[in-house]
Amino acid sequence: MRSAKRSPLSNVPGSVQIDEKILAFLRELPKVELHAHLNGCLNINSIRELAATVYGKETDEFLMLSKRFLTFKKGANLDDCFEKFSFVHDLTASKVGLQRATELVIRDFAKDNVIYLELRTTPKSNANMSRRDYLQTVLECISRARSRYSMKVKLLPSINRGEPVSVSEETVALSVDFCKLYPDIIVGIDFSGNPNKGNFEEFMPALTLARKHGLMLAIHCAEIPNRSEIKQMLMFGMSRCGHGTYLTSADYAYMKQHNIAVECCLTSNIKSGTVESLQYHHIKRLIEAEVPRVLCTDDSGVFDTTLSNEFYLATEAFGLTQTQCIDLTMEAIDHAFASCEEKQNLKIQLDAFISQMTVKDNRVHKTKRYIEKKTCE
Ligand code: IMP
Ligand code: ZN
Repeated sequence: MRSAKRSPLSNVPGSVQIDEKILAFLRELPKVELHAHLNGCLNINSIRELAATVYGKETDEFLMLSKRFLTFKKGANLDDCFEKFSFVHDLTASKVGLQRATELVIRDFAKDNVIYLELRTTPKSNANMSRRDYLQTVLECISRARSRYSMKVKLLPSINRGEPVSVSEETVALSVDFCKLYPDIIVGIDFSGNPNKGNFEEFMPALTLARKHGLMLAIHCAEIPNRSEIKQMLMFGMSRCGHGTYLTSADYAYMKQHNIAVECCLTSNIKSGTVESLQYHHIKRLIEAEVPRVLCTDDSGVFDTTLSNEFYLATEAFGLTQTQCIDLTMEAIDHAFASCEEKQNLKIQLDAFISQMTVKDNRVHKTKRYIEKKTCE
């Protein structure tokens, strides 16, 4: 049934109505989020709550500022987006702020029925915290969240390509160190930051070291059309590719051959101007070419979205069916940096949901087809 409420597609011209039934299904669907930057995932309500913790009572000026933070001017570009992060970084510059922010972000994903979450964040040092303190704080919050939510949360410390190489070396050294204490939380390294800054080649030694220690690599690649860097990144290798907007069809063949999933973030790409509009989003080509792909939010706060909304956008723009949304979730489980047992458990949870759906709605036909019978070694 269509209603005239504000659509999650409201940033997309021509779309004003929402299909409540599909949206309800997508909200209920147990989801898997593989690309979420901690400081980018605070939504407006959580920013309010965080501001109350950090600054005391909310002020009108602060609320005005928060609203401006979510507003994207027409023709916004990547550089404009990166400037927005400093707003949240001020709020998470203390241990108390960072703790609360981590709790709020985990809570918000849990509210959206995300059952598995890979958070990524750049360890920062300032007058209040060292990078070690930063990581320790986030890891402790993730540990505590376990008893609170049934969701599994993992962490990928990020290398910000806009920062000096020495910082990336420290980030990897700390990650390797913390991995011994939290082996089931720290599972990989993210390479991100403004793609107009930094030289990938210079970060390769730090990334190689991370890989040598068993950390998986999620690399923001082909977010902009930088052909020589894309080639360099693909040759270097990665487990998952962030965005992959400017990959060519030859690159698609490579991703397919090496089973590298492209993390697609629809709203993020449109609001940051790297993709012109939803109908031209490369997820369509990735699906057609059968390249592994997953749907993610990137920065659900900055881009004012949720994972359910991202799925909804895909159903509206590309006619994805409920079954295809389930398949995409299954694909995300396969590409998660989780253990075999954890993946089996996630599949069991998804399967239970499908069985229940089948009773309620005969449009989702397939049951019990996902649980692989293989045993984990
Ligand atoms: P944080 O690492 O928790 O502070 O999350 C925000 C940071 O993630 C930003 O300052 C960027 O370095 C990075 N980031 C967020 N979104 C993107 C993106 O779309 N491309 C590249 N880097 C990003
Ligand atoms: Zn990202």
